[in-house]
Amino acid sequence: MPSLSHGRACLAVAFGFILFFLVLKLQYAIHSPTSFSFTTQYSRPSNSRTHGVSNDTLGFQKIFVINAPWRSDRKDSIALAASYTGISLDWIPGVSVEDMQDKAYPPGNHRTVSPGNKGSWRAHMNAIRTVIERNLTTALIMEDDGDWDLRIREQLEVFGKGTRKMPELIAKAERQVTLQPPSWDTKLDRKELAKRSSIDLSSLSSRDDTNNVYGSDWDVLWLGHCGAELPPPALNSPNRILIPNDDTVPSPQHLKPMRSAPLDPISTLYPPHTRVLHHLNHTLCTIAYAVTQRGARKILYEFGVREFSKGYDFALSDFCNGLTRGSRRETMPVCIGVNPPLFSHWFGDGRGGSDIMGVGSGGRETGSRYVRWSVRRNLERLGTGEGVEESWGDPSDEERRGG
Ligand SMILES: *[C@@H]1O[C@H](CO)[C@@H](O)[C@H](O)[C@H]1NC(C)=O
Ligand SMILES: *[C@@H]1O[C@H](CO)[C@@H](O)[C@H](O)[C@H]1NC(C)=O
Ligand SMILES: *[C@@H]1O[C@H](CO)[C@@H](O)[C@H](O)[C@H]1NC(C)=O
Repeated sequence: MPSLSHGRACLAVAFGFILFFLVLKLQYAIHSPTSFSFTTQYSRPSNSRTHGVSNDTLGFQKIFVINAPWRSDRKDSIALAASYTGISLDWIPGVSVEDMQDKAYPPGNHRTVSPGNKGSWRAHMNAIRTVIERNLTTALIMEDDGDWDLRIREQLEVFGKGTRKMPELIAKAERQVTLQPPSWDTKLDRKELAKRSSIDLSSLSSRDDTNNVYGSDWDVLWLGHCGAELPPPALNSPNRILIPNDDTVPSPQHLKPMRSAPLDPISTLYPPHTRVLHHLNHTLCTIAYAVTQRGARKILYEFGVREFSKGYDFALSDFCNGLTRGSRRETMPVCIGVNPPLFSHWFGDGRGGSDIMGVGSGGRETGSRYVRWSVRRNLERLGTGEGVEESWGDPSDEERRGG
């Protein structure tokens, strides 16, 4: 009787499925509830989309990581971190100054630049040139000690809504400055000035566009730094976008680039847990930044062809501020910063110092600033499924709001 045996087979299969899911559920309930919810929620493209921040290059066309071939320790660590966040990386080999010849430097006083900074500059130039050679529309360039929050996709989704609006705001604010040089009421205090120079992200309408998460009318998005000044206040035309109640921002008392540094201005200028997108001003450390094809071409011209006379992070900061020779207000690049940053330096257990500064992280704290659910701090826990450890001992969103 074929129909009977068919029915039985179906029943058996259905029963098998139910059993399978029960066991699966039980297993997760027993072993790793947090890590299970973590992996489904954050580490993988949510609905297997290949575009937008949910994909494995975070909505950029490529992610390049600069790693010196002799620093396999750093390569191992960042590759593991990337795997737990479902990110795929392309490597740009770091460069040793011994492999460079004097005549290969662009004009400029490169002799004042330290050997470590020379190597770093060359590696960044190679990354930028790769963006150009492969005709990439956008790329994220990261140094191999970068750290990020396990919720990086959520953060970038919101960040992208802001970066799509920022170029327009910057242009308006710049026009305003030219028309009417700043002459703000000196009676206004810093907080009031900051408030009037800012606009809330929720008040800006923007369509979701997974093919163009970050917009395209910019040159540099400086996502990971160790200090970025806010632009001067702009009262009649805001030059900052606020993301309020961002649970991934640590409490104000933690907002500083290192333990001994003074607090960042945003810790007092804005309500706690506010992230600020802004027209870039002086910025330090190239931990992570994105470029467009247009931005890459300008940068390679500036520092690969025209002049090399300072460390690359100072150079990039100058570029963004129109301080490079021959820069004019009308042709200023569009550079967007974020405060606190989304990527931060990870200082490991004290052995693996930086090759740029020529100093170890000895005397410095272990960990990374600004990042709450640090992927690096949680590498072991992610493996064992113990759940995520918060870096700053901050209360969660619900606790904060008295929930
Ligand atoms: C990720 O999304 C961006 C933007 O839509 C796209 O340019 C890029 O090619 C995608 N990357 C992958 C690996 O699919
Ligand atoms: C580079 O990319 C742009 C836009 O994606 C395209 O219009 C152009 O034809 C490409 N150039 C080459 C040489 O492939
Ligand atoms: C950066 O700040 C300085 C001093 O406040 C200002 O003169 C300069 O115009 C700013 N640059 C940009 C790009 O806003």
